[in-house]
Amino acid sequence: MTTTDMDALRSSIRQQAFTTQATLPESSQLNNEALRGRIQDRAHLLVKHLREDSKPGLMELMLAEYGLSTDEGVALMCLAEALLRVPDYETMDDLIEDKIAPSQWGRHLGQSASPLINSSTWALLMTGRVLDEQRPIHRTLGGMVKRMGEPVIRRAVREAMKIMGRQFVLGETIQGAIKRSSGKYRYSYDMLGEAAVSMPDAEEYYEDYANAIRALSAHCNSDNIEDNPGISVKLSALHPRYDEFQRDRVMSELLPRLKELAKLAMEARMGFNIDAEESERLELNLDLAEALARDPELEGWDGLGLVVQAYGTRSPAVIDWIAALAEETGRRLMVRLVKGAYWDTEIKRAQVMGLARYPVFETKADTDRNYSLCAEKLLAHRPRIYPQFATHNAHSVATVLELAGEDTSGFEFQRLHGMGEALHAYLRTKMDLPIRIYAPVGEHEDLLAYLVRRLLENGANSSFVSKITDGDVPIDDIIADPFLDNRPSLLRRPLETTIPHTNSRGYDLRDPLTHVALIGAREEFRETQWNFGEGRTITNPARPSDIVGTVHFCDTSDVEAALSKAKIWDVPAATRKETLDRAADLLEDAAPEFLALLAREAGKTVEDAIAELREAADFLRYYGCFASDEKEPIGLVAAVAPWNFPLAIFVGEVAGPLAA
Ligand code: FAD
Ligand code: 2OP
Repeated sequence: MTTTDMDALRSSIRQQAFTTQATLPESSQLNNEALRGRIQDRAHLLVKHLREDSKPGLMELMLAEYGLSTDEGVALMCLAEALLRVPDYETMDDLIEDKIAPSQWGRHLGQSASPLINSSTWALLMTGRVLDEQRPIHRTLGGMVKRMGEPVIRRAVREAMKIMGRQFVLGETIQGAIKRSSGKYRYSYDMLGEAAVSMPDAEEYYEDYANAIRALSAHCNSDNIEDNPGISVKLSALHPRYDEFQRDRVMSELLPRLKELAKLAMEARMGFNIDAEESERLELNLDLAEALARDPELEGWDGLGLVVQAYGTRSPAVIDWIAALAEETGRRLMVRLVKGAYWDTEIKRAQVMGLARYPVFETKADTDRNYSLCAEKLLAHRPRIYPQFATHNAHSVATVLELAGEDTSGFEFQRLHGMGEALHAYLRTKMDLPIRIYAPVGEHEDLLAYLVRRLLENGANSSFVSKITDGDVPIDDIIADPFLDNRPSLLRRPLETTIPHTNSRGYDLRDPLTHVALIGAREEFRETQWNFGEGRTITNPARPSDIVGTVHFCDTSDVEAALSKAKIWDVPAATRKETLDRAADLLEDAAPEFLALLAREAGKTVEDAIAELREAADFLRYYGCFASDEKEPIGLVAAVAPWNFPLAIFVGEVAGPLAA
């Protein structure tokens, strides 16, 4: 494999960003209906076993009662998300009052199969009552009860959140976690901490990882890396600017740290897995992994691991690229296949940014289909790739097993600590398959983001773990063949909004194709001079030799002249709205020119310039919605544009009066 081939594979990864559905290639075994039938049968057996023979865990019961489709579940989720990081009691109490009081806890009373959950419901119900001042009995007593009750409530709720957290963490320290681990399973320890915002934070997380690897090395007793414990690293923990926009710093500062950790893991004969995070980091993630794979100091080590997120539209191409990298560097790579833990974030980000498409699949069936396709690809690359199938879904497990057929060697299954115990215990005891547990280690302070992802995953009614505990969901629904599920996406396009006008067009500059296209188009206006009358010469504040153009600054006589010529824009509201919408479209079509002008005249970075251009387009469309024939025109209006948002605020000031 030549470097050019690797480049071609990288570019097909980028092209796959345009995919919206997971489709089967003709060569796939998954086209075979007999095979798919066997998958169904196997999944059916597994689910039947799970329902009959195993008891759901506390968390599963909790989330079965308080799933995210109930207001109470969402309230708990918001509390969990926020409470652990609220520094002062006053805010904590306000938050509890806001989230607990308005909910209908009574509906859940006695509903759960678990006495513990039912008593928690009692506690929440009482809390809600105490906090609900609308109830007549409390209108008089309210203030006092509230004041006496809140410290108690605060502690109780905080404790409840901690209990939920503990469910997902193996230990607060690596020693504690090792002690709690079971000899029957393999482990990949994850030192909690991510999204470091400062260098000292990143250094602390680095030390946590280094110490953990040192501590684990004493437990790496096998010559086979896969038999030994491993470590899972989040790159966003190791550097505060793990961002495409800081590529140079990532390569010069983060990479050496990562390599130091990898060397420690290599010396300990450990697997070293780089977790996958948000999709905007994929390019960097692959570059860093490639640098490690090609590093001569790490030669001969088979423990380097990457994660592929099957919800990502680019994932099949990522596997092709990883396989080529393994081939070219002559090493074995470990690849963990997950569906992906940041789905909600990805969707929201694409909507906020006004992107043309989502970076992830839009239906669960697409993700499930793609997981199967990716599993097939990975199995075919054995032994160059050591696949690690991380899933709690019995149907996905059955798919892997049927695809693997007789040859169940050279791969493992993985689960998260606190989830999927029964399924994986079955695989281990009944089928003698190796299981690795992803085991978070750390303190509550660092748990939050991880905990929220787990709550979302457990609480979503589309999740396998949520369906299996809900006795009302029939087995056939739980194991429905994703290849037969053609239900369309319920998501709106990222540019559509719930308000009456469409979102402004945005750009994801972390996507290399978008970056090259937009910056290339902007380049055309690098030397352009815009001349608006005689008068003042405008220069680039960052580069005074760059002349942007000339403007005419007005004085009172210009204002008088303008006012005397101005006329009321007396056209129907529909025409006003259409005109403003069209202006927004034209502004967006001319994005490269405006971005150049904003950079050169106002010294804006590309991101700031994009934000400003979008704000201008939003103003035009937004005010257009208020055009009405019912009201009299408001008359003449003068607008003065400020220097700091020369485009957006000026357009806004003009668009509002035009609409009115
Ligand atoms: P299922 O219930 O079958 O699937 C749930 C998943 O389906 C969701 O999480 C989501 O990915 C997807 N989904 C749900 N709704 C939709 C929709 N409307 N459209 C498209 N897709 C949808 N995640 C990471 O991101 N990075 C990691 O590095 C990582 N490491 C992990 C390591 C281990 C050992 C394990 C077990 C998990 C890891 N995860 C990681 C988390 C993993 O992504 C989730 O646990 C996984 O998505 C749950 O899938 P499932 O097959 O267990 O459950
Ligand atoms: C997460 O942190 C397990 O890596 C996965 O959500």
